[in-house]
Amino acid sequence: MGFEHTSVMPQEVQEHQNLKPGYVCVDCTLGGAGHALSTIRAILPDGMLIGIDQDADAIHHATEILHPFKEHVRLFHSNFSDLPRILSAIGIKGVNAIVLDLGFSLNQLKNSRRGFSFSKNEPLDMRMDIRNTLTAFEIVNSFPESELMDIFFKYGEEKFSRRIAKKIVEARIQAPIRTSEALSQIITAAVPKKSAAKQRIHPSTRVFQALRIAVNNELEKLESFMAQVPSLLLENGRLCVISFHSLEDRIVKQALRRFENGCTCPKTLPECLCGFSPQMKSVFRKALIPSKEETEFNPMARSAKLRVAQKV
Ligand SMILES: C[S@@+](CC[C@H](N)C(=O)[O-])C[C@H]1O[C@@H](n2cnc3c(N)ncnc32)[C@H](O)[C@@H]1O
Repeated sequence: MGFEHTSVMPQEVQEHQNLKPGYVCVDCTLGGAGHALSTIRAILPDGMLIGIDQDADAIHHATEILHPFKEHVRLFHSNFSDLPRILSAIGIKGVNAIVLDLGFSLNQLKNSRRGFSFSKNEPLDMRMDIRNTLTAFEIVNSFPESELMDIFFKYGEEKFSRRIAKKIVEARIQAPIRTSEALSQIITAAVPKKSAAKQRIHPSTRVFQALRIAVNNELEKLESFMAQVPSLLLENGRLCVISFHSLEDRIVKQALRRFENGCTCPKTLPECLCGFSPQMKSVFRKALIPSKEETEFNPMARSAKLRVAQKV
């Protein structure tokens, strides 16, 4: 099967990166390389694109897609939280634009056979980087009930987290829960029928999101990346981040607010003692969202939010 992909908010990302020939840019989440392809075309003939993905399949795919531009592309199978190390290893002090298109790709959902989708019967894995050791199987089959409940509540905002965790523990005593389908059946049975009928999403949606976030340590990696953004950008350099749920967006929004405020002194102090000045400025006060045409064509874009900020 081919590598499936559809880029979210392609025009908006392209426009707000403010690209020019000769720029050095980073795509931190290559996925199907749709954004990467538009970026490289805009920075030729002498620009450079640094591409990162923690999924080896995405790197293989991007290597093929970007082959015609190979003199101008450097790809890294890595986590984007490693970007500072990657840049210093290749001797780059700062870049003109960075794109993050968070979460998982259509290809991971549909073709990876790693159990990202509750509508498929696949092994419970959910690792984007298969060099890591923690899998969804291990969490579901060995974490204490209280920890399962915390994961579902914290990362999935699942209001039936207690009931679901209890049912999982009861089921795994009989036999290990090995597949996405088996897990989804347990979750569906744990959620009261009345509530399930009222929800617009499948009863397993939130728990699957929570497990994926936990397996890939997604929020900690994003926080660690965001803390370093100003030191990675050149003056007037731009950051574009597309997030897909409120937990991601909150991390991006709060980090940008800190950089925008600069000063970290308590508000009760009569004058600033920290001496920190603003490092970034948001280009739009509110996050941008996809057009109606885009969400009709690509339902996965429905929850997307794009934040754009510029180094000052
Ligand atoms: C939504 S897809 C990106 C789609 C891509 N922009 C396109 O145009 O096709 C997200 C990709 O980011 C990767 N990813 C998610 N978190 C990552 C991280 N912390 N470090 C590196 N790659 C990550 C995933 O493996 C996935 O391939």
